[in-house]
Amino acid sequence: MRGFLVAGNWKMNGRNAVNEQLAGEIIAGMPHSDSVELLICPPYPYLASMAAKVDGTALALGAQNLSEFESGAHTGEIAPGMLLDVGCKYVIVGHSERRAMYGESNECVARKFAAASKAGLQPILCVGETLEDREAGRTEKVIESQLGAVLELVGIETFATAVLAYEPVWAIGTGKTASPDQAQDVHKHIRSILAAQDDNIASQVRILYGGSVNGSNADGLFAMTDIDGGLIGGASLKSADFLAIAAAAASQG
Ligand code: 13P
Repeated sequence: MRGFLVAGNWKMNGRNAVNEQLAGEIIAGMPHSDSVELLICPPYPYLASMAAKVDGTALALGAQNLSEFESGAHTGEIAPGMLLDVGCKYVIVGHSERRAMYGESNECVARKFAAASKAGLQPILCVGETLEDREAGRTEKVIESQLGAVLELVGIETFATAVLAYEPVWAIGTGKTASPDQAQDVHKHIRSILAAQDDNIASQVRILYGGSVNGSNADGLFAMTDIDGGLIGGASLKSADFLAIAAAAASQG
């Protein structure tokens, strides 16, 4: 049984007071369910204070990015071991905003994924096509090259302790969610790529959907066979919305 993961990607939002309140409300209202794990990914400067906040609770902590290097002369970068040190369990890797705005190639994402795993963090590898890709019928091809670069570098075994997130770029922050069937098709394809190398790992890996998930559409998405939770942007910034999505996951269990 894979279980669900509902992850909040706070992106570049929040300040001390707001974070304290948001995390406090999530902790107070989170479902007590063995089949649903809840995760928040605040910006770097708040990881330590949020680690203290979630300590002793079932709410997990993750980061939004990391360096591919372990330490040294990399001004402004954050090492995998530092994230582990401040209490992170997960780290998002290859978000489409980083690919598009900060030039992260498939190969760079693969190296970050490898660095995260090596340090003992669970990478959440984001893949997804643009609208142009989808309209040109290239969705599967794009996913194959994004996932393929990571598989090639780290091998299938590393996916035993990783999470995938399918985030169609056209659905992020646009209010246009992929339909449950559209998302399921891609999730199934992702699982089949992994299954071609290891059936067991493919059947155990959690594949999240991300892109305009909210309390109203989460039920339909989470009911699909290969959708194991969500990577939530905008709706993770309001506790009621995030908890409604968590409740939708719990109701599937
Ligand atoms: P939205 O939920 O705001 O569309 O963002 C999705 C996302 O990018 C999560 O990583």
